[in-house]
Order: sequence, then structure tokens, then C-alpha cells
Amino acid sequence: MKKPPVRNRAKAPPKNAPKKIQKVPIAILISGRGSNMRALIEACARPDYPAEIVLVLSNRPDAPGLEVAEEAGLKTLVIEHKPFGTDREAHEREIDAALQASGAMLVVLAGYMRVLTPWLVNAWEDRMLNIHPSLLPAFPGLHTHEAALKAGAKEHGCTVHLVTSGVDEGPILGQASVPVLDTDTPETLAARVLEQEHLLYPDVLEMICDVFAK
Ligand code: GRF
Repeated sequence: MKKPPVRNRAKAPPKNAPKKIQKVPIAILISGRGSNMRALIEACARPDYPAEIVLVLSNRPDAPGLEVAEEAGLKTLVIEHKPFGTDREAHEREIDAALQASGAMLVVLAGYMRVLTPWLVNAWEDRMLNIHPSLLPAFPGLHTHEAALKAGAKEHGCTVHLVTSGVDEGPILGQASVPVLDTDTPETLAARVLEQEHLLYPDVLEMICDVFAK
């Protein structure tokens, strides 16, 4: 007798079950304490957040952020720049190989303190984000809080932008601002801006991942 065909009937999910979403694999590059990375780790832990961290990569073996990432159970990797001397591109080719191997679709710079060569920037064109502690185009480069105070700025803040070969010049994806107080020192201003960075970066990344997932 012919057996009736086996039917794999998918069970309907329970009515209030959280919707499973497709997460975009991302890699984070750090050089230091990694507080922005921590904010992204916390966001990515949300089931409805559209990104998952597949690699945290540092150019410095002593970056405190590495421990934070490891505690969160993330895959970490150190590719030091020193052994490559002045051959920046050779260093970046190793980084790129690790990024490709990780399956990351987006690269998120979070306090990665090396200026990238056009080679790596082009390899990740439109797929690499950075956060900068000023309201770009004002105050590119380092020491932005000192510069804002010195210039008598009434408003300061942070910017998330796409990375292009011009340092801190890529298209702006989002900004958050804080008022500059008469009593501010570079440290107090930096602390208030950093609070905003931790809110802005996860928000902008969410928006970009939503676009990628479509
Ligand atoms: C942040 O101020 C970020 O805007 C800049 O470098 C700093 C990194 O801080 N690019 P952290 O390592 O994320 O704490």
C-alpha cells in the first residue's frame, strides 16, 4: 500500500512570540576603552535590534575594550600595526582578510585611532561607519572639545558618518548636540558629548541595518 506523503507542517508561532528578524553581521574596530562599542554590544543584545557583532578587532593588544568584548562572549582579534612599520596598507590587508573571514557586512569604527588608507576605505565603500566627537564639519581631527571651547562654540556634539578617504569628511548619517556651558572644561564637555555618542551610534546603526536588511 502506498504510504501517505509526509507533510512537514510548520507550527504556527505563539501569538505573542517576538518576531525573529534577520540581523546584519557587523565588525567593530577599536583601539582603546571601547565605551561606544559597549553601547553597541548592549543594543545588539536586544532581540529586535537588526545587527549582530561577529568580530571585535583592535590594533592594540592592550586596548581595555578587548576585555569588555570578551566578557560579552564576542570573538576578538588583535592585529598590531607596529610589525608593519610604515606599510599601512599591508596592515590593512590583514585587517581586511579578517573582516572578510568574519562574514561582516558592515564595519563600525568605534575609537579606532588610525587614519585609514584609501585602499581599505575603498574596499568597504559605503559599508564603513565612524563616530566623531564634534558636529562635523566643525572640528575634524583630534582634540575637538578643546577646539570647541577655544572657538567659543555655543553648541557641540557628535556625528556618525560614512568613512571616505578624507578624514572625518564622509556623508553625515546622524548628529546629536549638547549646549556648551560657561563652566565647561574639555573634560566636562567630553563627558556630556560621550553620553550622546552612546545614544546616537546605536540609533544610526539601527537605521543603516534596516536599509541593509531590505
Ligand atoms: C569617542 O569619543 C569617539 O567619538 C572617537 O573616539 C572616542 C572613542 O571612545 N572616535 P570609546 O573608545 O568609544 O570610549
